[in-house]
Amino acid sequence: MSVCKNVVPRIPHMLHGGDYNPDQWLDRPDVLAEDLRLMKAAGCNVVSLGIFAWTALEPQEGVYRFEWLEDVMTRLFENGVYTILATPSGARPAWMAQQYPEVLRCGPDGRRAAYGSRHNHCPSSPVYREKTTAINRRLAERFGRHPGLALWHVSNEYSGECFCPLCIAAFQQWLQERYGTLEVLNSKWWTAFWSHTYTDWSQIVPPDKCVNALSLNWKRWVTHQTVDFMQNEILPLREITPEIPVTTNLMGTFPGLDYHKFVPVCDVMSWDAYPAYHDRPEDVSLAVQFSFTHDIFRAFKQGKPWLLMESSPSATNWMPVGKLKRPGVHRLTSLQALAHGADSVQYFQWRAGRGAHEKFHGAVVTHDGSGHTRVFRDVAELGQTLGQLDALVGTSIKPAVAVIYDWENRWAIDESSGPRRERKDYLETCVSHYLPFWQRGIPVDVVSMDADISNYSLVIAPMLYMVKPGVTQRLEEFVKNGGNLVATYWSGIVDEDDCCYLGGRPGPLRKLLGIWSEEIDVLYDDEAVPVKFGAILSKEYHGRIFCDLIHAEAAQVLGEYTGEFYAGRPALTVNRFGAGRAFYQAFRGDDAFLDEFYGALAAELKISGPLGTSRLPAGVTLQYRGDAKHNYVFALNFSAEECSVPLDGINLQDVESGECVSGELLLTGHGSRILQVNG
Ligand code: GLA
Ligand code: ZN
Repeated sequence: MSVCKNVVPRIPHMLHGGDYNPDQWLDRPDVLAEDLRLMKAAGCNVVSLGIFAWTALEPQEGVYRFEWLEDVMTRLFENGVYTILATPSGARPAWMAQQYPEVLRCGPDGRRAAYGSRHNHCPSSPVYREKTTAINRRLAERFGRHPGLALWHVSNEYSGECFCPLCIAAFQQWLQERYGTLEVLNSKWWTAFWSHTYTDWSQIVPPDKCVNALSLNWKRWVTHQTVDFMQNEILPLREITPEIPVTTNLMGTFPGLDYHKFVPVCDVMSWDAYPAYHDRPEDVSLAVQFSFTHDIFRAFKQGKPWLLMESSPSATNWMPVGKLKRPGVHRLTSLQALAHGADSVQYFQWRAGRGAHEKFHGAVVTHDGSGHTRVFRDVAELGQTLGQLDALVGTSIKPAVAVIYDWENRWAIDESSGPRRERKDYLETCVSHYLPFWQRGIPVDVVSMDADISNYSLVIAPMLYMVKPGVTQRLEEFVKNGGNLVATYWSGIVDEDDCCYLGGRPGPLRKLLGIWSEEIDVLYDDEAVPVKFGAILSKEYHGRIFCDLIHAEAAQVLGEYTGEFYAGRPALTVNRFGAGRAFYQAFRGDDAFLDEFYGALAAELKISGPLGTSRLPAGVTLQYRGDAKHNYVFALNFSAEECSVPLDGINLQDVESGECVSGELLLTGHGSRILQVNG
């Protein structure tokens, strides 16, 4: 087999298509024929089939009906459309739930859910595991050699928890393997508190509310069991079709599962993104959040392209307001994903069903059934654009900057009581440290605290509250070798079981950061403490929400509080450590502070975007993507205002129109352009 850089080897193009449910239209061959015509007209080359088709595939236990699927897959393939074939475990037939109630989940009160809805199976049920592998095996046997099969789409948006006796027993077993003895668990979990010491494994039941180490480990187990369920699902796929890659569609920064644990199981990562940019003041911060999340997906496999598995071609039916996408916005959101490393634009859904829950969800083909709609035209135009981007398929970038965003750290911060109940805002804080780079078009990877960081020159670790084993050594090594680390308040507080480090905060990071945090002040929302800096920053800024009261030990002081009883105490420090530096922001700075701080650091470290290190017009970002031969820049304007980006001697060429662009780059409101850097 030749080495292929595209993540879906059978399709050397940008993937374009979506979730397709012909099983809802089996009595309408005319509709299916029309779909083929419309898919061609829209420039589609792929569909996801069978995601919720279990009953159509196995109408009675052990009776399989695959003819319709074979027919659809073959006709699609004959028309240039590949199939991403789903395993149907996201929802199950009524006969199965009736005959084997254990396939359904139990709630925290132990009550079994009634049949209905979806994404609600028990991940431990041996019956459900057996039923899923049985149908997956048959699907692989029947379609594994089909020339139209491009990728496996395993289940759908895994999520949720089950509190049935099987799950509880599996949790206890997992804990036994993790801790070995109850003595170790009791000590690591600090269970003497409130007399919670366990004397038998069977006493450990899932938390009904936050109980630090227990909640944290329950979440870890939920991830473990979901991944284990997925591994069980893919056994027959790996065995019968080792050459067909596997993915599962994830949900961005969904807090319920630690997505890093899915990376080794998937060949290609994918997620379902539904940004809603509607000329609202929050559009730009929403765009930054989506870019941040896309960059998590790009970094999952060290830059390997990922797939945008679902997006809406127009409105959704589940947002508080299902507003229509404004002109240009469909292209903008789609190119945003590509700019951050996606090799696909796929939709939920190709055709809207007539009934049930998602009949009003946006679709490429709506109830009118024609291609004569604004949405269809938008999709078809995008299809043409994607058709011009073969050279981009499989390409990526290698950022010099990484922001650490870690699921387990998020759980621990959120679950822990104090020092404030609200506004701990871990995710939002990570995004705020990412924003200054987005505004300069400087690429950033978003990685977990377990990632290999040795190749970055700047690593930012906001609120690294939990420091897991191995992390301190990696950070120290990184800085010692010349790296630049930025850490903040509320770091180095607890170990992997949410037990505080003794010997002064920031615990294991104290030596590297060269500071001692004696106590931490938290403020009311409307309060602010002024901070002034020496030569390094031009203005005075303010600390909000968190103000850490630190002593500089080995570190040098770069800024100090000028208000409150801690006026004169250090607020920003830097510690030289080996060949590198470790900065400490003791306070939560606002966007203006972060912008000046990181702008200066990027300039000093010569980390630049396509236009150097100066800030782009508000709402605009430029994102690099390419390889040795092709140097692409995506220019994206998330504001509704037209704007001009000064080019400063750089010559670009518009990939679609061929136009040479120099002097200034014009972007319409919500405009998006794909450019190549010349020379
Ligand atoms: C999710 C699901 C789809 C569909 C869409 C609607 O992403 O995976 O099946 O329900 O939401 O937006
Ligand atoms: Zn269960």
